[in-house]
Amino acid sequence: MYNPIEINENLFYVGVNDRTKSLFENLWPLPKGVSYNSYVIRDEKIALIDTVDICYTDIFLNKLDVVLGDKSIDYLVINHMEPDHSGALNILLNKYPTIKIVGNARTADMLKGYYNISENVQVIKDGDELCLGKNTLKFFLTPMVHWPETMMTYINETKTVFSGDAFGTFGSLDGGVVDSQLNPDFYWDEMVRYYSNIVGKYGGPVQKALRKFNDVEINTICPTHGPVWTEPENVKRVIGLYDKLSNYEGDKGLVIAYGSMYGNTEQLAEAIAAAAAASGVRNIVMHNLSKSNLSYVIQDIYKYKALIIGSPTYDSKLYPAVQTLVNTLENKNLKNRYFGFFGSHSWAGTSVRILGDFADKMQFEKVCSPIDMKQSLNEVFYEEAVTLGSTMAKKILSDDEIVPNKTTDCI
Ligand code: FEO
Repeated sequence: MYNPIEINENLFYVGVNDRTKSLFENLWPLPKGVSYNSYVIRDEKIALIDTVDICYTDIFLNKLDVVLGDKSIDYLVINHMEPDHSGALNILLNKYPTIKIVGNARTADMLKGYYNISENVQVIKDGDELCLGKNTLKFFLTPMVHWPETMMTYINETKTVFSGDAFGTFGSLDGGVVDSQLNPDFYWDEMVRYYSNIVGKYGGPVQKALRKFNDVEINTICPTHGPVWTEPENVKRVIGLYDKLSNYEGDKGLVIAYGSMYGNTEQLAEAIAAAAAASGVRNIVMHNLSKSNLSYVIQDIYKYKALIIGSPTYDSKLYPAVQTLVNTLENKNLKNRYFGFFGSHSWAGTSVRILGDFADKMQFEKVCSPIDMKQSLNEVFYEEAVTLGSTMAKKILSDDEIVPNKTTDCI
């Protein structure tokens, strides 16, 4: 049994919740699950927007039965081919063999490659429209938000956008689907985590996509994951958050991410954090990288404008957990951060040099001198930590622009 969820006139939610999977993309934790959203527009012609993960096809098909009654589906619009949204495709086509699949040229290539489908595909271009009756769909190609074939579909009449992964969140939909039916508090951080983990490399393409909608009024956002956004203040907040994140703008806050084998490096991190707090920074997050999950570390790093990384020298390199973080940030092409760094060693230090090279490569604004602690915290290293923490605090609390490649002296 299923009571159809009507988002607005003739637009129905037919997505599913996944509370079984532990890791999204077999990588990112899902402590509160995830939803795979799909939508039906019931008009003279019936359009389905995206499908769901293959594991949930039976529930999905049951929902379609309820919403469609004795009708069939005329069009399946594929905004995104990643299997969490296209997985149910072949089984869907078995049941509704006359469906015309609507996508762009890159979608067509992936349909052939993933599912060996090349028949009954309607290839659209950017700006094309498809009339369903009372609703007209307009297609906006938005490549690399998150894959090259990604696009968004807009209903001109109701000003509803089906945005694919954009504006999506981790977390299942526990009861309500539309923001007005649920408490959205939980989803804001999960939107940052989803963006930073999944889409975060593609700030430029996200900016391009947002610009396409500059003069397009949006009343309702229907993403492929998480709540449907309809409340005007939420729609504004969602778009503003994406604009900020894709511009690599962080809030006033500091992430200190470090590795530490026996706690000596951690003591240096504690001293830096305490100094930053004493200088007025209220948003400070410390991550022991041997314990914190990378997904949440990245989320916090995208959230705040300042980052300090510390690492012991290990096998003449960075500590492995720190190396993983550094590699990930490099892969994601993170930009526009105040950056401080410190290291420790017992007999020969290389970690500080490696972190300095990383800062240069990432074109961060380096703040204060790095600290290279030999063996354990003494008064000299403690004072250096206080100086780094307080100098970083001044930068964070200032309204200065972050200047790529600049080095700001210790204050
Ligand atoms: Fe939700 Fe890029 O897939």
